[in-house]
Amino acid sequence: MAFKPLVFSGVQPTGNLHLGNYLGAIVKFVELQNSHDCIYCVVDMHAITVWQEPTELTRNIREVTAAFLACGIDPKKHIIFNQSQVAEHAELAWVFNCVARLGWLNRMTQFKEKAGKDRENASVGLYAYPNLMAADILVYRATHVPVGEDQKQHLELSRDIAQKFNNDYAKSIQERGFGDAFFPQPEPLIQGPATRVMSLRDGTKKMSKSDASDYSRINLTDDADAIARKVRKAKTDPHPLPVDEKELAARPEADNLVGIYAALNGSTKADVLGEFGGSQFSAFKNALVDLSVAKLGPIGAEMKRLVQDPAHIDAVLADGSARAKLLAAETMNAVKDIVGFVRR
Ligand code: TYM
Repeated sequence: MAFKPLVFSGVQPTGNLHLGNYLGAIVKFVELQNSHDCIYCVVDMHAITVWQEPTELTRNIREVTAAFLACGIDPKKHIIFNQSQVAEHAELAWVFNCVARLGWLNRMTQFKEKAGKDRENASVGLYAYPNLMAADILVYRATHVPVGEDQKQHLELSRDIAQKFNNDYAKSIQERGFGDAFFPQPEPLIQGPATRVMSLRDGTKKMSKSDASDYSRINLTDDADAIARKVRKAKTDPHPLPVDEKELAARPEADNLVGIYAALNGSTKADVLGEFGGSQFSAFKNALVDLSVAKLGPIGAEMKRLVQDPAHIDAVLADGSARAKLLAAETMNAVKDIVGFVRR
């Protein structure tokens, strides 16, 4: 069955939105608006799988919303909302808790990383997180999901859940006139030169919101001085920039900075090496500072302006949530019928 193309993605409101979130995800969100209907979600229910201070959480939900708006997502043509305002996400997640197998979740590397050694003390929510993520996407029967590389495994699980639901309930799905598949197989969109932006302090570690060192990441709210300081301090190796991509691949810090430059510039790593291959890092870093400040400066300034007006942000989220809810409720009603629940 052909499903209507629809884009869905989410960002956790856990503070310190950074260049990795921007280049790996939000830039794609903005581009896809021109070709698709899009739904972008501030996934606050995912955030509380690890402890969040309530006042901080509220602030961070508004900050991610401000980032969506400041980067150029149009909340009228598309949908921006926060997850907890659409209860159907949690409802479908429960059904998926009963579809997904323990063995599948046991393989999730992100859970292993986040839970660490103290696994017994991790929340049940953190373990079941990927099922909620599948529900986020499939409650809209979304077909395309722009994400960074680190979400690939979760997307594969979403596809497995969709498939198993379609198989388990095949007869009921047929009988209710939904053809041979109720859920699509959502396709991950993981493309371009910056699908995995690395820490500026260690080219083998992912840039992350939770890294203790603020020098490891460029935050979307950093001002020009902070951006310049962080780029200049970024770890490099002692050699000039390589001239070809094969050599680049063996030099993680160089690879990361070249990938960032290419992504900010809308070009490729090969283009960047064509321009800077053989130069010293100091010259390249100057160019990277200028480019980063030119691209990120206006976004940070606009985010700071927008968060001054929480009523406006809350109104955007309320409007988006109401529109999202209409779509989600339709899917959830069908799911209830397919599963055999009795409903009003
Ligand atoms: P989150 O909030 O950790 O990250 C938001 C987006 O940013 C991408 N990303 C990166 N991309 C490149 N380099 C990096 N260093 C980097 N760090 C983060 C992430 O891949 C993501 O696309 N589970 C998701 C949120 C989520 C979701 C969903 C996404 C919940 N439900 C449904 C898509 C569809 C997460 O924790 O992203």
